[in-house]
Amino acid sequence: MSDRDSCVLAIDQGTTSTRAIVFDREGAILSVGQKEHRQLLPRAGWVEHDASEIWASTREVIGTALGKADRTGADIAAIGITNQRETTVVWDRRTGKPVHDAIVWQDTRTTGLVSELGGEEGADRFKDVCGLPLATYFSGPKVRWILDHVDGARERAEAGELLFGTMDSWLVWNLTGGPRGGVHVTDVTNASRTMLMDLQTLDWSSEVADAMGVPLAMLPEIRSSSEVYGTSTKLGAPIAGILGDQQAAMVGQACFEPGMSKNTYGTGNFLLLNTGTDIVRSEHGLLTTVCYQLGDQDAVYALEGSIAVTGSLVQWLRDNLGIIRDAAEIEKLATKVDDNGGCYIVPAFSGLFAPHWRDDARGAIVGLTRFVDRHHIARAALEATAYQTREVMEAMDADAEVPARELRVDGGMVANDTLMQFQADILGIDVVRPQIAETTALGAAYAAGLAVGFWKNQDELVRQWSEAHRWSPRMDEAERERLFRQWRKAVTRTFDWVD
Ligand code: G3P
Repeated sequence: MSDRDSCVLAIDQGTTSTRAIVFDREGAILSVGQKEHRQLLPRAGWVEHDASEIWASTREVIGTALGKADRTGADIAAIGITNQRETTVVWDRRTGKPVHDAIVWQDTRTTGLVSELGGEEGADRFKDVCGLPLATYFSGPKVRWILDHVDGARERAEAGELLFGTMDSWLVWNLTGGPRGGVHVTDVTNASRTMLMDLQTLDWSSEVADAMGVPLAMLPEIRSSSEVYGTSTKLGAPIAGILGDQQAAMVGQACFEPGMSKNTYGTGNFLLLNTGTDIVRSEHGLLTTVCYQLGDQDAVYALEGSIAVTGSLVQWLRDNLGIIRDAAEIEKLATKVDDNGGCYIVPAFSGLFAPHWRDDARGAIVGLTRFVDRHHIARAALEATAYQTREVMEAMDADAEVPARELRVDGGMVANDTLMQFQADILGIDVVRPQIAETTALGAAYAAGLAVGFWKNQDELVRQWSEAHRWSPRMDEAERERLFRQWRKAVTRTFDWVD
């Protein structure tokens, strides 16, 4: 490593925007470049992204971040990539053009296909192999949909002319030269969200791929989360870390010990518990997934509670209802009232994910009386995030058999003090935010930096974690349980909505 290798560049390709962040050796942020991309909503329940637009924004934000930090490619020790998981791109190896818009993880178009694939065995048909129930959320059914609906795609995929990837693969392929020799890889964490990877062997399962109708020829090579995959043609720096964004947050929060967990508040919420090298099967609606694999070390697994809609409910109040002008305004509205006025919002926009896994659910606002106004609605929207987190936390405690004592949190919504206090109140345990809130990008930077010796080992990363704020429960037990009982009732009102 030359003296010039003074920083690590992380690319965080998220659901609503793409960011490039430059980190120094202490894990401090030197600069950020960020750009939103369009959310394409062609029909109810469908959500798409233009993968070419995302690649263009990625190049742009890298330029912005490097410019602001006054750094060039030669200063970068390594590049780490983290990404919205499951979102599916299929592209032509020769032209580099996607054959269809990317199908986003929230998209529910595969509802029928998913129940057809379950057949008599039902949603758990492939769970022993891949740790996941059949659901619209995962990539496998989305690839199948593209191959079934784009003319000639299946034949071209079988002939090896089309490639599949989640956003990590798409970006690495483009960064390393695209049609002129791009590297086609993914890491174990992203692969573990496709339904196509065997959790034990960490290789593609030909049995599941065959049943799902996805040709092996189009799948990327599965690699660890921390190793050199290739070199950026433009920057000349090694790409050395790939992690799905929720797993990256685990690394960024230094949750390296079994029993450690974190909850990220983004578009959705994702609570992960490190289960070490054991593959723990959930009995309570959680997913079994790969947490990370650092180089040639054994893979570490996690239990995950995925909630589809939390922060995106706030965006919906802003964009679809116009109740607020910007996301920050929701807290101002919510604090104007003492409680939710009896109103509950269950944002089952993409069905309900963990712990329910109900593709047939759709959103509901219940408990309305003439008394309810926009302040109560704002409050109910915030509370929905906290109640959904409690549902997942209860499932986690039941699976782990030891209740969590505190919860590490990160993501955009943790800036909302009202929500974080309510979260502690509804969970009845402390909620803790770290000093460096950008844990997702930091995790990708850590994975890349470890691979090239920029950081020596995990202990060094553990030492960089420090607490910034702690919220302790203040609500009395009876009130906590009363509110949560009402929430549970509200959830049942969303079931069986889709015929
Ligand atoms: O599984 C979906 C998740 O990775 C999306 O994360 O942060 O883009 O909402 P985010």
